[in-house]
Amino acid sequence: MFKIGVMASGGGSNFKAIIDRIGNGDLEAQCKFLITNNAGCGAAAHAEEYGIPVYHISGKTHPDTAAYETALMDVLNRYDVDLLVLAGYMKALPNCVISRMSDRILNIHPSLLPKYGGKGFWGIHVHEAVVAAHEKESGATVHLVSEEIDKGRILSQVKVPVMEDDTPEVLAARVLEQEHELYWKTIKEYAENLAANH
Ligand code: GRF
Repeated sequence: MFKIGVMASGGGSNFKAIIDRIGNGDLEAQCKFLITNNAGCGAAAHAEEYGIPVYHISGKTHPDTAAYETALMDVLNRYDVDLLVLAGYMKALPNCVISRMSDRILNIHPSLLPKYGGKGFWGIHVHEAVVAAHEKESGATVHLVSEEIDKGRILSQVKVPVMEDDTPEVLAARVLEQEHELYWKTIKEYAENLAANH
């Protein structure tokens, strides 16, 4: 069975959408763990509800960089997942994780990359910039994670219209709804591609 691990920091609606699709059989995979840098987050609550082990690994739990990296690598080594799925993980990954999981880390970003990606473009700031620029459309992107933030190979995108009276919050909600559909489908396709190439 295809094994995934998820990393998340926030509300965890993308994480929940993925584990719901695993639960109903649309996505044939097992979710082995959630790593979070934010112990009280919604994603951790979802994981507990679904009986998925939660690992809280952050600058707080591991102030020493080497110990922090070892803690992350220990989880990866223990479960040996096929794919690491970033679902609203708000911290850059250390290079040791990126090279351990080369071409096997996916991220979802709430814009049509390469637009509105990179430094400073996270969370509501992405949608604020899109609204301020009077864009006619926005969307979401699933991409591979490389050392440069938001620059890895794009795997899929969905477009969403921007209405004239949109606030950043209204636009964020419209994009998020589409993220929930895009992410599990992209994981499924990517898993199938990996299987076909082995
Ligand atoms: C999403 O907008 C995602 O694109 C971004 O972080 C947000 C996470 O939302 N990377 P949630 O925690 O899945 O609800």
